[in-house]
Amino acid sequence: MHKLVFATNNRHKLEEVAAKVSNSIKLLSLDDIGCNDEIAETGDTFNANASLKSRYIYEKYNLNCFGDDSGLEIVALNNEPGVYSARYAGQHGDHDANMNKVLQRMYGEADRRARFRTVISLIWSGTEHFFEGVVEGTIRQERSGTGGFGYDPIFQPDGYDVTFAEMSMAEKNAISHRGKAVEQLVAFLNSQA
Ligand code: IMP
Repeated sequence: MHKLVFATNNRHKLEEVAAKVSNSIKLLSLDDIGCNDEIAETGDTFNANASLKSRYIYEKYNLNCFGDDSGLEIVALNNEPGVYSARYAGQHGDHDANMNKVLQRMYGEADRRARFRTVISLIWSGTEHFFEGVVEGTIRQERSGTGGFGYDPIFQPDGYDVTFAEMSMAEKNAISHRGKAVEQLVAFLNSQA
């Protein structure tokens, strides 16, 4: 049985991966390995932040590990909020204020193109592998829907006329940036197991 740490304490994220990986891999959260450290996300790219997490755990615990980082990139805002997505309006995790800031800055802007991106850094037997998922879409003029989290009420994926916040979790996971990155990670892991 291979042990593999997901450098997160987000149970939803952990379960999404656990449901898809082979039984020969035992997936562990930071809590499961007794790690309460705050791992700083000081990088200026998603790759750098994902790496900070996986490398920290690998170096401290010598366990195979992966970390992820995601965010929203808006074309007309030079790909902001990017790595600052969680704290765009100042306070970490204030999704309502973050969306207000985006809607204000996008007021009157005709180019509404945006994408969500997820990068996963996996350290497997000492070698780092990156997996990436992107979903293209547009920023709505106003919020719509109550599901999901973060910027979901203002993001409409291409090919749909609803926002992420108006989709079921299964529908969103099937096309989302995170879903796509996880799919690639799982394909790699299942080829190793
Ligand atoms: P994390 O790296 O997955 O924690 O994501 C960082 C931030 O990006 C979140 O706090 C959200 O603001 C935003 N974000 C990432 N993924 C999503 C998503 O699927 N929907 C909406 N917002 C997201």
